[in-house]
Amino acid sequence: MDYAKRAQRLEPERAFSVLKKVSEMVASGHDIIGFHIGEPDFTTPENIKTAACSSIHANRTHYSPPSGVPAFRSAIADYISRTRGISVSPEQVVVAAGTKLAIFCAIMSCVESGADVLGPVPSYPAYPSIVSMIGANFIPVPFIDTDQGFRLDLDRLASLVTPNTSMIILNFPHNPTGTLLPREDLARIAEIAIEHDLWVLSDEIYSRLVYDGDFVSISSLPDMAERTILVDGFSKAYAMTGWRLGFAVVNTELAALFDTFMANAHSCTATFTQYAGIEALTGPQHEAEKMRLKFLKRRDLVVTELNRVPGFRCHMPLGAFYAFPNVTEACRMAGLADADQLQDALLDDAGVAVLSMSAFHSPNGPKDDQYIRISYAAGEREILEGTRRIRDFMTSRIGRSGRHI
Ligand SMILES: Cc1ncc(COP(=O)(O)O)c(C=O)c1O
Repeated sequence: MDYAKRAQRLEPERAFSVLKKVSEMVASGHDIIGFHIGEPDFTTPENIKTAACSSIHANRTHYSPPSGVPAFRSAIADYISRTRGISVSPEQVVVAAGTKLAIFCAIMSCVESGADVLGPVPSYPAYPSIVSMIGANFIPVPFIDTDQGFRLDLDRLASLVTPNTSMIILNFPHNPTGTLLPREDLARIAEIAIEHDLWVLSDEIYSRLVYDGDFVSISSLPDMAERTILVDGFSKAYAMTGWRLGFAVVNTELAALFDTFMANAHSCTATFTQYAGIEALTGPQHEAEKMRLKFLKRRDLVVTELNRVPGFRCHMPLGAFYAFPNVTEACRMAGLADADQLQDALLDDAGVAVLSMSAFHSPNGPKDDQYIRISYAAGEREILEGTRRIRDFMTSRIGRSGRHI
């Protein structure tokens, strides 16, 4: 049988293949500490679960309009207007079964095959995969690893824009580095987008998980609302990964296209989960805030502990729940070629699951700096035990290979 080339261009997400391997190892009796998956270990707040159950009992179990339940679109419009400082109407909101579907819809609707899409690398893997599926080109924009943390290389970004460019993807707070873009960097990107008439896909799924500094959406900058596709969702801020609930905020013309996309893709997002979404946005927020404060505590703990591991150098992430330590020196000291080998050795020999930079579309090779992603959406006990295992692993590898710090 023949398969469409476009389907073969989609890439599997490494987090899910590591997840599968970890599940098999756990099932066969291994004790694994999981730092590999970007999923809060908290449960969905009770008021949200109750709202979903009440919606089912009230028989809100039929199709909704493809763009979503009107009351939910209104609640999202209010929430985005309030948190981003822009004026959004319900007609600009399109609900999707997860932020990922909103991303898919945005790239399918706004990028022609053959066009260029610029995006930060390391990158959430769905962006390059979807861009490549539609026959467009994902053009990586690297970060600079400075003493103050990771900074998107804006000169490089500017130099990569050509008449063939149609979209810039932003994702701040960033997965996997945890960095935020300062306002002046956003302003420069906005200038470039306006000058070259580009779409900006701004994935703001971690906007509620900011620990230092303020979150600014590029959509709030002058003349940017019209060309920004803002996507966000409930998975991370409300621990609702399995609910599949996200949305896009776009100009009204594009919203009509997105509506047709959703009608064709899945008719609508599950109706009762949308009512749960209304409760999430309009009900008490203390559970979400409690989770954020726990992530903040874990961030401080994980960065302190990672910086105690021989050969690891880790910046303090400003948001999301990922640390992205530089492990170039650790690979050298442990006699490993790269972060891929470190990822495998940590899982097989130390019982710690992490993701190497290559899972985020970063070029990986002995010449480049090496990084791994540690998700600290894990409890403090796991963080202490997991980082102790990494430290012990490094100490024993250094002893074995006779290499010195
Ligand atoms: C940057 C980024 N965008 C989108 C998503 C997917 O979110 P959702 O669960 O709402 O589809 C993730 C999940 O890990 C993510 O890290």
